[in-house]
Amino acid sequence: MHVRSLTMKSVVRCLLVVLTVMVTNIVEPIAGKVKNQQIELRLKQLNKQALKSLESSNGEIIDCISIANQPAFDHPMLKNHTIQMTPSSYPHEVLTEEDNAPTPSNDEEQPENTVQPWQLVGECPENTIPIKRITKEDLLREDNIKNHGNKSNISQPHQFYHPKDTTNYSGHEYAITSVSDGPYRGTKAQINVWKPRVQEVGESSISQISIIGGKFDAGLNSIQAGSHVHPALYGDDNPRFFIYWTRDNYQNTGCYNLRCPGFVQINKKLTPGYLLTPISTYNGPQVKFTIQMWKDPKTGNWWLQLNDQELIGYWPKEIFTNLADEGASVIEWGGEVVNKKKDGQHTTTEMGSGHFPSEGFGKASSFEVIKIIDMNNGLIDPVKVKTLVSRPACYDIKTGYDKKYEVFFYYGGPGRNPNCS
Ligand SMILES: *[C@@H]1O[C@H](CO)[C@@H](O)[C@H](O)[C@H]1NC(C)=O
Ligand SMILES: *[C@@H]1O[C@H](CO)[C@@H](O)[C@H](O)[C@H]1NC(C)=O
Ligand SMILES: *[C@@H]1O[C@H](CO)[C@@H](O)[C@H](O)[C@H]1NC(C)=O
Ligand SMILES: *[C@@H]1O[C@H](CO)[C@@H](O)[C@H](O)[C@H]1NC(C)=O
Repeated sequence: MHVRSLTMKSVVRCLLVVLTVMVTNIVEPIAGKVKNQQIELRLKQLNKQALKSLESSNGEIIDCISIANQPAFDHPMLKNHTIQMTPSSYPHEVLTEEDNAPTPSNDEEQPENTVQPWQLVGECPENTIPIKRITKEDLLREDNIKNHGNKSNISQPHQFYHPKDTTNYSGHEYAITSVSDGPYRGTKAQINVWKPRVQEVGESSISQISIIGGKFDAGLNSIQAGSHVHPALYGDDNPRFFIYWTRDNYQNTGCYNLRCPGFVQINKKLTPGYLLTPISTYNGPQVKFTIQMWKDPKTGNWWLQLNDQELIGYWPKEIFTNLADEGASVIEWGGEVVNKKKDGQHTTTEMGSGHFPSEGFGKASSFEVIKIIDMNNGLIDPVKVKTLVSRPACYDIKTGYDKKYEVFFYYGGPGRNPNCS
């Protein structure tokens, strides 16, 4: 009886194993096939028909696509949109007495951002724009992060900030300055380029300007631009120029670069997501780039210009609510880190240069010559600047003012250290 029962059990067990193996062998390939089809479909939507393609030495493929057929125009609100090729006006300097004093000469380097690896193999024809092709590997990598990196949702680079909320730690750390006496028409600042170490693939380190429209609620509108290291997005750990937007507080709208319809690119040489090279050297040459973002007084579109000369494109007013007709309510400048707290510890993901602001020039990362653009389109110094630091033992900030750098701050830090665990 005992023996027989055992045998029965073994038989049942054996059958179960066989069944499981059979089912797995059938279900897995089907699931795999469905997934493959989904990925192929998504790639077709994301990658527009190329009129020319350039493959650079680092393996990136740049597609030159018709400017009129770019991702932006898949947006339902942009069906009848007419491309604006130049701003109706540019913000102007507002001279103060201090500005009349001689300024020390600027002997710093600008990143060689007009020479990207793909530009060594060719250029995009007239009336096309370069866009980095999205690969199957890109989508698979992001999918993995979404499923397994709970606290580091790739689609949410910046969330509500609750300084006192320690129970609901979002995994985001900040060291920023801000002004909140809008409306503002925009901002301009010079950003130091570094390559902060990012420990985990699902993490990122960001240096950015955020323009915010409306209140910090579910209807928050925001546009962002800056440099970031984001391995899950690009598959590497290089600093890249990035942009982002949302009209519903990062819930259902918005994405990085041109990943979803919205931003209208007009530049024929540079596309958001491009590599920032070279980078600054600790206690050596400093590399900086300038971002200016402003609302066109005539069209209401939000322009993006780099290094006083490269117009990248604009965020059309149609994609926004608060930022459509009004100026910005808040402007923020500074650093943000997404920390996955692997093994319950703060990771060693760096912000800025990875050094604390107390180290100062050439060692800590900085934002300099920070301006706001007032409703008269004038570039003026921000006033009533607030600072906000989530965990000063991990990343900190230090503000200042001088003749050369005007309104500036140092920010950043190493992440995990004896005081930040
Ligand atoms: C585009 O134009 C058509 C025809 O005038 C109009 O029916 C449609 O509502 C417009 N779409 C948008 C998003 O403005
Ligand atoms: C991650 O983002 C997706 C899509 O926006 C959302 O459904 C999900 O709840 C988010 N997960 C976390 C942990 O925030
Ligand atoms: C992620 O989710 C898993 C399972 O829900 C959970 O055990 C883990 O603690 C979460 N990790 C973080 C960093 O929240
Ligand atoms: C944490 O989140 C929960 C659910 O969203 C909320 O009810 C709670 O008030 C939050 N805790 C704090 C301290 O804000």
